[in-house]
Amino acid sequence: MKLDCSRITGEAEPGSRWLSGYAGMVQAPVHWLEENAEATMSDLFGMALAAVSAIRERVRVELRVPIAPRVGIILGSGLGGFAAQVVDAVTIAYAEIPHFPQSTVVGHSGKLVLGTIGGVPVAVMQGRVHAYEGYAMEQVTFPTRVLGLLGCHTLIVTNAAGGIRADIAQGSLVAISDHINLTGTNAALGPNEPRFACAPDAGQRFFDMSAAYSPKLRGLARDEAARQGIALSEGVYIAVLGPSYETPAEIRAFRTLGADLVGMSTVHEVIVARHMGIEVLGISLVTNAAAGVLNEPIHHEEVMEIGRRVERQFTGLLTALVPQIALD
Ligand code: HPA
Repeated sequence: MKLDCSRITGEAEPGSRWLSGYAGMVQAPVHWLEENAEATMSDLFGMALAAVSAIRERVRVELRVPIAPRVGIILGSGLGGFAAQVVDAVTIAYAEIPHFPQSTVVGHSGKLVLGTIGGVPVAVMQGRVHAYEGYAMEQVTFPTRVLGLLGCHTLIVTNAAGGIRADIAQGSLVAISDHINLTGTNAALGPNEPRFACAPDAGQRFFDMSAAYSPKLRGLARDEAARQGIALSEGVYIAVLGPSYETPAEIRAFRTLGADLVGMSTVHEVIVARHMGIEVLGISLVTNAAAGVLNEPIHHEEVMEIGRRVERQFTGLLTALVPQIALD
């Protein structure tokens, strides 16, 4: 039997685990979930269900109450410190979650932190995996699938990026307005899986990307940044596979293509989120001028150092934004 997360209904009993679809309104009792997880263990959806099940069980054991996160947050290089903002936190190492990929990069600690921020249930990923580590796009985006099935109707993706546009300074925060996927692949390749739909009309074979980065959420971010006196510009993010940084000639080409920022992550998570019907806010921390913009080499240590320097601003912005997003 196949489980369709968009069609689960019924009351969750005490002690049951919860599976959220359709804006977190639908739930499945534990025995139902287990039966279905077993039935579909050979596919991605079944694997995601198994991960959801394990996370819910861990939260239930530690907190004694179920938690249905509404906002998922993926923290990029150097930004993992934000997870300390989570109240009543349950921290689960990726290694303890079935099928979760393990990060191998310095600055990506590999923990899922569930709890609340400003009273809003959240699931925060402290670190992500990348294709350049050798992971397939299905693995890179597996956590995003799991966040959606946990009930997150909004995903905040953050990353470290190189600044291509001349006015984007090192250490600045930029709201991503759109992306260019130059990785040569797409995380939604393969048989379509409509059971990942977490909103009406989502889970389609062909899906719209014309407002992939929610204009509404960007507006909230812009207003909150202005309130806090933080300069937050907007820009187009171009994704490459990495792990080599770009050549100056590539950066010149990317500028011609219309890119303002360059990085090695994010776009596939966003593609998968949009497939599921999840709203996305993307924020880049510009850790360096892209290759050739200044006459300086790029170092990963710099990425981490800038993250630490901007941590207070980044944390203040996101902490204030989460409750606004949940209310919206
Ligand atoms: N290029 C690609 N990815 C990055 C960069 C960069 O310059 N800086 C941080 N992540």
